[in-house]
Amino acid sequence: MHTTSSVLWTLLVLLLFSMAEMRRAGRGKGLKGARHGLARDRSGPARFMAPNCTESVQSRDVFLDCQERGLISIPSSNGWSQEPKHLLLARNRIRILRDGAFTGFEGLNSLDLQQNQISVVEEGAFQGLWRLKTLLLQHNKLGTVSEEALIPMPNLRYLRLYDNPWNCVCSLESLVQTLQVPSNRHLANHARCTEPLRLKGKKLKQVDPDFLCQESDPGPQGDQTDPSESVELSGLRSKPDATTSCHAYLFPEPRLDCSRRGLTQVPSGIPDDIVHMDLSHNSIRQLRARDFHEARSLRTLNLKNNDLDHMEKASLSGLLHLHELDLSDNDLHFVQYGVLEDLYFLSLLKLGGNPWVCNYSIHYMMYWLRLHPGVRQSGLLCRSPVEHTGERVEKYVDSYYRECPKEKQRSLEEETEQTDPELWESLLEVQGGHEEELEPGHLRGPQKYQIIRLS
Ligand SMILES: *[C@@H]1O[C@H](CO)[C@@H](O)[C@H](O)[C@H]1NC(C)=O
Ligand SMILES: *[C@@H]1O[C@H](CO)[C@@H](O)[C@H](O)[C@H]1NC(C)=O
Repeated sequence: MHTTSSVLWTLLVLLLFSMAEMRRAGRGKGLKGARHGLARDRSGPARFMAPNCTESVQSRDVFLDCQERGLISIPSSNGWSQEPKHLLLARNRIRILRDGAFTGFEGLNSLDLQQNQISVVEEGAFQGLWRLKTLLLQHNKLGTVSEEALIPMPNLRYLRLYDNPWNCVCSLESLVQTLQVPSNRHLANHARCTEPLRLKGKKLKQVDPDFLCQESDPGPQGDQTDPSESVELSGLRSKPDATTSCHAYLFPEPRLDCSRRGLTQVPSGIPDDIVHMDLSHNSIRQLRARDFHEARSLRTLNLKNNDLDHMEKASLSGLLHLHELDLSDNDLHFVQYGVLEDLYFLSLLKLGGNPWVCNYSIHYMMYWLRLHPGVRQSGLLCRSPVEHTGERVEKYVDSYYRECPKEKQRSLEEETEQTDPELWESLLEVQGGHEEELEPGHLRGPQKYQIIRLS
């Protein structure tokens, strides 16, 4: 039953994927054709088509992906076979959003403009976007935006404005007031003032609008910082927030890129619709219980190249959909009993570049791998003790039992003092049961796939 649905599911994914590929290929040709046409027929109106964007359909929504194309303005709305519902313009070089910039894109549901250089939003920039629900403007250069700019978007539910140098002066008052209306609770939650000094670090959500229009007095009073704010900031430092310290992407699937951010801990507040998370190249030393408990949708988790030497027993609990886990290039000697128990659907586990110790503690890893034959593993080699250096852990474990099993069994009992006695019981239980029965009941039904908006 389950097997059938997952096969169907895989086929569907492949079909969608190849459709997207075909479309992409088709678009390339069309574009070349268009260029030729343009070169030959100079008299015609030079309708500037969006350079090299790709169009795709997922869950019946049309996506127009123009990310990282070096764009300095919004592409023309012509030339698409279907009206896009999601327009992705992240990581371009757009500086200004002019009046009517999105004319022709009235069907948009989400608009991703993060990581550009936008410093000016003209009042009519979002004219016509009355359907828009999600607007991402984080990581830009905005110091101010007039509240009028938001008026054309009555359905806006999610607005991201963080990591912009907000200048919290009188001209920002009406925007701040709007953001603070209780029904706008998802608008601009993490945006903070950069200027003036007396309001630096204060959230737009929390700054007193009346305060904005007060003349900033340069006296000693003006430099006073709110003590509650500094508490909040230090709290922030000890546990970074995923939405502010990482880059979030919608396309092709919700993804959080937290690599190379100097993180020493897994950030909190991972949105529950994130499918791929990259935490590689940081300095995380431990995974703690519940670090990922909100990240229910994660399918890939990359922890490569950190300083991990310990993973608490419940640190990966809740990751029921995880397919790929990369733990390579860390400082792991073994994994504690129980750590891997929730990873029902894991298919790829990367373990290379860790100083695995071939003593009894590594046996749990080997047993777990044997009970999950669907998992492709790489890099599980003993680094110590010297007599096993370079040997595959699997070979070490096999030889462990081949050599005088009786005697080993006895010494094993002594060694196991600190090992969980449940290990053996649960191993027996699990071995008795069929692989499929490991799957929790709520996962057996066919998984409906959907694109989820990043919130
Ligand atoms: C088209 O986009 C791809 C990335 O998706 C990029 O590598 C390539 O250089 C682009 N080509 C043009 C002509 O802009
Ligand atoms: C195996 O080695 C690790 C790392 O040196 C150590 O922490 C652990 O206690 C050892 N396990 C056993 C069963 O000796």
